[in-house]
Amino acid sequence: MTLLDGKKTAQALQQELAEEVKLLQAAGDKTPHLVAVLVGNDGASESYVAGKVQDCENVGFQSTLIRLPATTTEAELLAQIEALNNDSSVDGFIVQLPLPKHIDAEKVTQAISPAKDVDGFHPVSVGRMAKGLPTFISATPFGILKLLEKYDINLTGKHAVVLGRSQIVGSPMSILLARNAPVGNCTVTLCHSKTPDISKHTLQADIIVVALGIPEFLKADMVREGAIVIDVGITRVADDTKKSGFRLVGDVDFESVAPKCAYITPVPGGVGPMTRVALLYNTLLASKK
Ligand code: GUN
Repeated sequence: MTLLDGKKTAQALQQELAEEVKLLQAAGDKTPHLVAVLVGNDGASESYVAGKVQDCENVGFQSTLIRLPATTTEAELLAQIEALNNDSSVDGFIVQLPLPKHIDAEKVTQAISPAKDVDGFHPVSVGRMAKGLPTFISATPFGILKLLEKYDINLTGKHAVVLGRSQIVGSPMSILLARNAPVGNCTVTLCHSKTPDISKHTLQADIIVVALGIPEFLKADMVREGAIVIDVGITRVADDTKKSGFRLVGDVDFESVAPKCAYITPVPGGVGPMTRVALLYNTLLASKK
């Protein structure tokens, strides 16, 4: 079993990005600038956004965090987005999800200019991705592809089973794995909450991508020997033995599944850091446009 070390891989990619920033600056080009908008004070969102800002600092990007109170109205947030769309100093920006319930997240997503949509959530970005046109690919699937690429894993002709049909991960992942591309060319099965007998599918899989948000969903008896397992889940589970009061648990029962795998991502330190570095790649791409 080989551990797909997202932390180490992301650090190496950050180093490459930092070198590229230095070259850009030496050539008199602008420094890439990412803005993150955080509405309210959801604990997990706070730490995700802090991580994104820290990553920018690590590679020499400019970053700005805009904090808005939980009471921000939809109209106020849309006005903020319009200002960012029109601000030429901003290359790309994200509005951290989830948003407070009184704000329509879809409306917000669609208000972001596709040219600055470094999350790749806008319908234009999703449509271009589905057509195989150059665009911003949402960070988690993009990061997973980069991780597989870094480990030289050839998926051509393999059977991929994706668990979860979210707009952010499962759906785009299923499309990307089927593409005629270096990390692609899979036969893809997409399973979701209405799929009967998920094990029937996962037991046929050469690669399983689990993005359900259900801690330790994938058990050893659902995986064949030699499979590749990518765990996208990261759930905070209460744990009194930890100073923070919680521990992070993936969607895979790692202890029992890992010994059967050819490759597996850990949680934490697998997909998470790759998602973060993928956002940096999208920001660099936005700044070059
Ligand atoms: N919430 C959880 N993941 C993400 C992400 O990738 N982007 C944004 N904007 N919000 C998120």
